[in-house]
Amino acid sequence: MEFFIDTADIGEIRQAMEWGILDGVTTNPSLVAKTQKPFKQVIKEICEIVPGPVSAEVVATDRDGILREGRELAQIAPNVVIKVPLIPEGLKAVKIFAQEGIKTNVTLCFQANQALLAAKAGASYISPFVGRLDDISQSGMQLIEEIITIYRNYNFTTKVLVASIRHPEHLKQAALLGADVATLPFSVLSQLVKHPLTDIGLERFLADAKKFSWD
Ligand code: G3P
Repeated sequence: MEFFIDTADIGEIRQAMEWGILDGVTTNPSLVAKTQKPFKQVIKEICEIVPGPVSAEVVATDRDGILREGRELAQIAPNVVIKVPLIPEGLKAVKIFAQEGIKTNVTLCFQANQALLAAKAGASYISPFVGRLDDISQSGMQLIEEIITIYRNYNFTTKVLVASIRHPEHLKQAALLGADVATLPFSVLSQLVKHPLTDIGLERFLADAKKFSWD
């Protein structure tokens, strides 16, 4: 399973890279807005730190505008993936990006049929938002299961990128289902490593280690 970090914060990205478990980054306009820096500068800085896929989202909503913005973003670095909203104009653009060899991450997916359309258009990644579905009392994980089944049924190569992850349990469920990628906020990434018995156990071992010499 690949781990992406869902942030535009350079400090968080640097820390996650140091842990040695980071495969890529996803951003969205809300995350970029928090940085208070120009969009293209943020994407460039991230690409200088992370060699893996870095998703940068277009804000145009018409095919030609999406193509224009996407091609411009793709010039920033070879690992930029163009994030495109799951709307008819977006699908049109995804098809053309695929023909041009530009990778895409189709975002704002909330139902399996949308994911099927994105795969048919040639998306590199599909981003179903599990947390936002849970927020409205629908099952985010059921959506992941459905998409994985459909993609396997027809051998689609579009990767399932589980987004809007809110807690470690989301990640575990996604991994059990065999999702290709999970994008995690830094807060969730930090929680993954923690268990109280790990801390208590380490404390005891370190206390006992004081009772013997190294050599
Ligand atoms: O980047 C898309 C996604 O991960 C958003 O998450 O928490 O805003 O629903 P959230």
